Amino acid sequence: MGRRVLVTGGAGYIGSHTLVALQEAGFEVVVIDSLCNSSEIALQRVQMITGTSVRFYHGDIRDRALLEQIFTENSIHAVIHFAGLKAVGESSQKPIDYYQSNVTGSLVLLEAIQAYGVKQLVFSSSATVYGSEAPVPYVETLQTGSTSNPYGTSKWMVEQVLKDAALANPELSVALLRYFNPVGAHPSGLIGEDPQGIPNNLLPYIAQVAVGKRKELSVFGDDYPTPDGTCLRDYLHVMDLAEGHVCALEWLEGKTGTIAFNLGTGKGTSVLDIVRAFEQASGVSIPYRVAPRRAGDLPAFWADASKAKQDLGWVARLGLDQMMVDTWHWQTNNPHGYGIATNDR
Ligand code: NAD
Ligand code: WQD
Repeated sequence: MGRRVLVTGGAGYIGSHTLVALQEAGFEVVVIDSLCNSSEIALQRVQMITGTSVRFYHGDIRDRALLEQIFTENSIHAVIHFAGLKAVGESSQKPIDYYQSNVTGSLVLLEAIQAYGVKQLVFSSSATVYGSEAPVPYVETLQTGSTSNPYGTSKWMVEQVLKDAALANPELSVALLRYFNPVGAHPSGLIGEDPQGIPNNLLPYIAQVAVGKRKELSVFGDDYPTPDGTCLRDYLHVMDLAEGHVCALEWLEGKTGTIAFNLGTGKGTSVLDIVRAFEQASGVSIPYRVAPRRAGDLPAFWADASKAKQDLGWVARLGLDQMMVDTWHWQTNNPHGYGIATNDR
């Protein structure tokens, strides 16, 4: 029997892709998800891809009784913790919801992890914890903090909680995975990113323009101090990111303490480069207009990903072209995501 992993938020974008990677690596998976930003169909699709079942508990990670049930009914070897709210703009409007879900949720989960003697935890952190003053490329040894929105602050806070928890409990080992900009989809086109309403993120927006759901892309600013004036980000394929979780689980075996890893490609790509790469991969032209800068956007950041390579043996293997091809494949196969067409979607 494979080792059993509890995946919180497993029906979500990164979670569902990670389920595939975990099952393909021989892990058994158990999922808890409130479905507040996802669909159970994603889990059915995962099972179609892997031919292996996913045990699903529908509920909130703050529900202590449900966690107790999950840990009692399943012998859990490790936890991968994706569950949380992630929209940066919304986090400033609804900070309490964000701290509740992301910080309280993590605390309640951590209590259960300790109570049931689970020794390994992988946490979904973010490049956003480096804050607005950090020099690029971001390296794990940089100081974190100076976050500029409740979402980023919630991620930073949970990192601090986990560091302290691992210090106090030498049995516990924690990987803080700091993701850069995950994009793309599983090559089957069966699972992918399914944003609710108007997408905040670049790739889902472009993909919806390409299928005619949105008129044009707004490029937020072309007067940044970058080669073409648009922002640079480190886009990585979600399947590479998923593999990073498998590597982190393997690495945590027998370790103690907390360790942070950047998961990115190490390269910065501009908004206009992305538009061109998408056009090339899809053969569809993307109308765009230059709009004012979006509040809070940093001009440029990308990862120094050498620590993940050295310690985990992980590198991002899939290039920009594959990221675009797979985004397009998912979008054309599922123009309304997992749901049905409404005016808003
Ligand atoms: P997502 O919204 O697709 O997935 C999150 C999942 O968690 C959803 O299925 C949602 O229903 C579930 N969820 C939310 N709150 C919950 C709760 N209280 N209890 C139970 N389930 C809950 O987001 P994603 O893009 O897959 O992100 C996964 C994780 O990675 C998040 O923690 C996010 O902050 C982090 N992250 C994402 C990105 C990104 O660009 N997508 C970058 C860095 C970090
Ligand atoms: C990418 C670039 C925009 C939309 C966010 C979070 C970050 C992390 C990943 C969780 C930027 C530009 C975008 C559009 C545009 N999430 N853009 N027009 O902002 O780098 O990161 O998601 O941890 O914390 O902040 O990603 O995809 O929103 O934007 O021009 O319609 O595309 O200005 O330069 P971002 P994004």
